[in-house]
Amino acid sequence: MENLAFPPGFLWGVSTSAFQIEGATSEDGRGPSVWDTFAPGQADVACDHYHRWPEDVALLTELGVGAYRFSFAWPRIQPTGSGGPNAAGLAFYDRLIDALCEADIAPVATVYHWDTPQPLEDDGGWLNRETAYRFAEYASVLGERFADRVRMWIPLNEPMVTTVFGYAIGEYAPGRTLLLDALPTAHHQHLAHGLAVQALRAAGASNIGTANHHCPVWPTSNAEADHDAARRLDALLNRTFSDPVLLGAYPAEIEPHLPAGYADDLVNIAQPLDFYGVNYYEPQGAAAPGEGNPLPFELRPIEGFPRTTNDSPIVPAALRELLVGLRDRYGERLPPIYLTENGASFDGVHDQERIDFLDAHLRSVAAAITAGVEVRGYFVWSLLDNFEWSKGYAPRFGLVHVDYETQRRTPKDSFSWYRKLVRA
Ligand code: NOJ
Repeated sequence: MENLAFPPGFLWGVSTSAFQIEGATSEDGRGPSVWDTFAPGQADVACDHYHRWPEDVALLTELGVGAYRFSFAWPRIQPTGSGGPNAAGLAFYDRLIDALCEADIAPVATVYHWDTPQPLEDDGGWLNRETAYRFAEYASVLGERFADRVRMWIPLNEPMVTTVFGYAIGEYAPGRTLLLDALPTAHHQHLAHGLAVQALRAAGASNIGTANHHCPVWPTSNAEADHDAARRLDALLNRTFSDPVLLGAYPAEIEPHLPAGYADDLVNIAQPLDFYGVNYYEPQGAAAPGEGNPLPFELRPIEGFPRTTNDSPIVPAALRELLVGLRDRYGERLPPIYLTENGASFDGVHDQERIDFLDAHLRSVAAAITAGVEVRGYFVWSLLDNFEWSKGYAPRFGLVHVDYETQRRTPKDSFSWYRKLVRA
């Protein structure tokens, strides 16, 4: 990294999320979430962060990062998804945030990272417009309590993944398989985002953005039909989630699948943002649909690149492509970007592959900065090995190894590498 110029004040951080690390799923009044229902018992302990957070803050201090991105567990704050807050839940995050502030690490808070309280799901979850209003109330509770200490706010993590993996293909909670009929969940999450931005600002919070998953979509051949399929898949995975918040509009091909009256919500959705958070892992291949496919595209793996243990192709150049693409598409409407997640799963504590991965991706970020894209910070996914959703504990994304038998934390080689980088 020596000869790469990141701008002064560039923020170096790491990310986690509540359900993936906290455990203690039924302690201190926490209610069940959709993920407790979908993967019963699997994250009851996880990294036991709920009890071991002081050790984890000490690791952050040793790492020397300027910021730590974590998420609030909605079912800890509001065990049934509505109504008065659970004091013990608020107190847990008070302790964590105070410790971060004392260590001079900026708390960057995700309001929602997929752990919808189960009672809200029983009423339709993100298919139900009401969930957006419950979410705004929840955000307001957090704003009132933490606006004085949280330095950056991210209302929803990767709404695309919730819509596509959670409601369209059922790989993630709540496990629905509605295909394109899942699209109302995108709209209701956008509405939740817009209402939460307003609720947070009203509570005195500042520095509010997003964390959107982005993946360049590449056609598998030069055939016009494959290009066409790639455009449609790009609309679904990327523009359906960035256009509404940045432009107040949807890609035309998505509109027929949205709830009636959706256009009236667009002003509420396109709130001015202080930053645009991008989560990047890999590009996605697309081909024309085969016969009998109800969708206007087919997903294809990207071939010809090395892969992580999670089977993701390693394509650092696609990160520059996507950052420059966002700038070109949104121009003045695009606020400064933070990479709110980037990382990879590899085994072992001598993880040269992870160092190479991070190094190559940071070079790609630097190239985007040189091309004029305003990128202000970078967060590695993740501080710790953790619960990787449907894949369980097998993929290891941490800079710190977790032995799940003993909960022993061991910093990996990549931890020392990143520490040197952020200190320089
Ligand atoms: C993005 C998600 O936000 C996070 O929860 C997940 O663990 C990483 N991708 C890695 O797949």
